[in-house]
Amino acid sequence: MTHDEVNLSVEIAGVKLANPLMTCSGTCGYATEYADIVDLRQLGAFVTKSITAGPRVGNDYPRVVETRAGMLNAIGLANVGLEAFLDEKVPLLESLGVPVFVNVAGREIADYVAVAERLEEVDVVRGIELNISCPNVKAGGIQFGTDGAMAGEITAAVKAACRRNILIVKLSPNVTDIAAIAAAVVEAGADALSLVNTFTAMAIDIETRRPILANRTGGLSGPAIRPIAVHMVDRVYRQVARDAGVPIIGMGGIQYAHDAIEFLLAGATAVAVGTALFVDARCLIEIRDGIADYLRRHGHASITEIIGALDRE
Ligand SMILES: Cc1cc2nc3c(=O)[nH]c(=O)nc-3n(C[C@H](O)[C@H](O)[C@H](O)COP(=O)(O)O)c2cc1C
Repeated sequence: MTHDEVNLSVEIAGVKLANPLMTCSGTCGYATEYADIVDLRQLGAFVTKSITAGPRVGNDYPRVVETRAGMLNAIGLANVGLEAFLDEKVPLLESLGVPVFVNVAGREIADYVAVAERLEEVDVVRGIELNISCPNVKAGGIQFGTDGAMAGEITAAVKAACRRNILIVKLSPNVTDIAAIAAAVVEAGADALSLVNTFTAMAIDIETRRPILANRTGGLSGPAIRPIAVHMVDRVYRQVARDAGVPIIGMGGIQYAHDAIEFLLAGATAVAVGTALFVDARCLIEIRDGIADYLRRHGHASITEIIGALDRE
């Protein structure tokens, strides 16, 4: 049996995806990097690494360290900048034939708005993923995502620039109450929510007694964070997103179909894979096919039947 026999298609705020599998921002570059390993045209959508108005070199090295059941990164939003992205990367993204969501970061609200405005002109781009949750840059980013009023303010400003693109807001897990931040950005006009970004964490070299990352702290991702991310999706779905009709893109440690199905049952409409791509990027296709197997085994004709179907009794 193939995955074609069950309907895996989902919709994110009007953007139709052939299946719920997406890449996590920052873990699959601009798509070309993985071209020889996995056929990205088989994804539901592609999410770019964070793009900023100007190019950024990012943090000093080392900026990645493996930890047990995960990894810590402090890349610091290294990217080619908006103009080089438009000139060099967009033509390649067009050849993918799947909707592209561009993750956008910046220092000030005006930076985010300027990038969002330009991306309105790019056909292959169907949405902005607003990164107000990157824990690894000193100026800008995280402060927007940890304060409800500021998260709402930036969401409203970028939403006004999104006439064609949908606006996905990516939430930080480094907060006391993620549902409160979700409510603030939904109120301000977010069309969809991505959760979660990485958890601020530290690894120490016990011989030198110094933090391993040059940035000292980094963002923890991978299997270690999955149960926490699932719990956050469950909470945001029940407390905010379900009643508001706002779809969630769930992420955090997804490596197998089982993991993705947990997120779907908790209320995610789509799922994104990041750290697991560094192990084997082909897991994207295995996850997609594994979800189809699960649906068949449980007698479902469509993936939509299991979204938010967690039995809490
Ligand atoms: C190396 C690396 C780079 C990342 N870069 C970005 C980024 O540029 N923008 C962003 O919003 N998230 C970034 N993230 C966070 C991921 O998109 C994702 O939210 C997080 O890693 C959890 O998913 P995972 O456990 O499947 O990796 C990055 C993660 C990693 C591991």
